[in-house]
Amino acid sequence: MQLGQPSRTALATAYARAYHQIASEPRIFTDPLAVRIAGATPEQLADLETATVPDDITTDMRRRRRLFLAARARFAEDTIADTVATGTRQVVILGAGLDTFAYRNPHPNVRVFEVDHPDTQAWKRQRLESAGIELPASLTFAPVDFESQTLAAGLAAAEFDRSQPAVFIWLGVVMYLTRDTILDTLRFVADQATPMRLVFDYLYPTSAATPEEMGQRTARADRVAAMGEPWLSFFTADEIANILREAGFDHVDDHDAPHLIAEYLGIEPRQVATVAPHVLCATRTA
Ligand SMILES: C[S@@+](CC[C@H](N)C(=O)[O-])C[C@H]1O[C@@H](n2cnc3c(N)ncnc32)[C@H](O)[C@@H]1O
Repeated sequence: MQLGQPSRTALATAYARAYHQIASEPRIFTDPLAVRIAGATPEQLADLETATVPDDITTDMRRRRRLFLAARARFAEDTIADTVATGTRQVVILGAGLDTFAYRNPHPNVRVFEVDHPDTQAWKRQRLESAGIELPASLTFAPVDFESQTLAAGLAAAEFDRSQPAVFIWLGVVMYLTRDTILDTLRFVADQATPMRLVFDYLYPTSAATPEEMGQRTARADRVAAMGEPWLSFFTADEIANILREAGFDHVDDHDAPHLIAEYLGIEPRQVATVAPHVLCATRTA
């Protein structure tokens, strides 16, 4: 993140989610507020969405990236719904960016805590106001810089209840943080009263990319670095599973991007092979 500036990658993913609502592609994730919070007309969105992705990424690769962003959001909101159905009443969106779940929250008596870097959160609040999106009484903001402040203090100030179950969503953030910050955050989250769940996505080390993936991967890495938000942390599935177990989670449900997208679309994973981020749901029940 650039000092004093909101996250530019948050805007890029918001454009992709918004464009997914109007593009002629199978809809994985429905978000009726995505276009409004993106602050662009449907006509402008096609240009904006492609402008935030490197020129040398083909239309098909852009589409796959969008489908992954939609799939991870769907996975997160399906997890929230499952968790709420079993009695959880607290949802924490970490690094929320322009996520709109809190403003569409369909679950009565469920509180939502939006945690984000103070600069991004202040900018989001202005955008919500400009878009005429009301702040529901169930929402509490918690400004936290994960690198220099503790999530514990930020959530305590927001009157989050550590003694009650919760579901945490952390999409598109881990790769921008240092490893120590990620490990501290995982330990804090794992200490929540049970049952608790955590959904997040992560990137494989570049060395694991196939030659076909390498071009797209390098272009995207260069692009986010130029936005002042370089990728800092990478994991393999085995490595992150071990880290999660050591932190106290007892179950990990990990999906790579092609399988997750293909499952939602009812197609073969090879039809959406893409540079493979993974998304997982880690659970602690006892
Ligand atoms: C790519 S955006 C993802 C936003 C949103 N979760 C989404 O899926 O659209 C990255 C998010 O991580 C947040 N972030 C990055 N570094 C952070 C830090 N040190 N502390 C708090 N938030 C941070 C940014 O403010 C931004 O909201």
